[in-house]
Amino acid sequence: MREFILKANKAITSGDINLKDLPGSCGRLDLVCRCISSAFFLSHDIRRDTVFYSVHYGRPNPPVALKFVGSQLKRVSPDERSIAIFIKKALSREHGPQWRESTPGIYHAKKDFREIVLEKVREGRNVYLLHLKGRPIEEVINEETYPEMRERGFVFILGDHIGLSEEDERFLRDLGVERISLSPLELHANQCIDIVHNVLDKLEYRRG
Ligand SMILES: C[S@@+](CC[C@H](N)C(=O)[O-])C[C@H]1O[C@@H](n2cnc3c(N)ncnc32)[C@H](O)[C@@H]1O
Repeated sequence: MREFILKANKAITSGDINLKDLPGSCGRLDLVCRCISSAFFLSHDIRRDTVFYSVHYGRPNPPVALKFVGSQLKRVSPDERSIAIFIKKALSREHGPQWRESTPGIYHAKKDFREIVLEKVREGRNVYLLHLKGRPIEEVINEETYPEMRERGFVFILGDHIGLSEEDERFLRDLGVERISLSPLELHANQCIDIVHNVLDKLEYRRG
């Protein structure tokens, strides 16, 4: 299983979404939609082994968490507008402490970033923070380490255009979450998801 957790510092937390202004009044919801597109969509298929969380900290009622489950998604297509329509439906609901399904495979809850990370650590997943200054991914996940790691599943945490706060980084460090780097250059969040999938695809599908 491959899971991604995006902390979306400015992303809107109500259904008051103007589909013509995802970057502005919706707090960079365009970025969230691109990440979802990268997380799930292949040329003619969906990645059913992937789960994506976006935790929204924008106006008017932060935080709100959304969960997208690849094996259950229906009718969503890769373009930002289509994804934003489904997000709008989920954010228009009332949120409780437990996940509730809005449309097939899309869940919403009043959960914060740290709660979701803690859950993944407690589940025993291999949890990593994607970070420019981390250890190169190939040193951590490679032909030698992959077979054992894949049994526990992978979780990759990433920031939006603002990134994670120092407190969040300290929280992750204290939990023992290692930082891994994908490139010597700073990338967009959706590009990071593309690269992670590519690294794991090569290890998964080249196995004998
Ligand atoms: C546009 S970047 C964030 C830029 C922001 N100014 C910062 O300082 O974090 C979005 C996210 O992508 C991930 N990221 C960007 N470049 C990366 C790299 N070379 N290796 C690993 N993760 C990277 C990080 O998780 C980052 O928070």
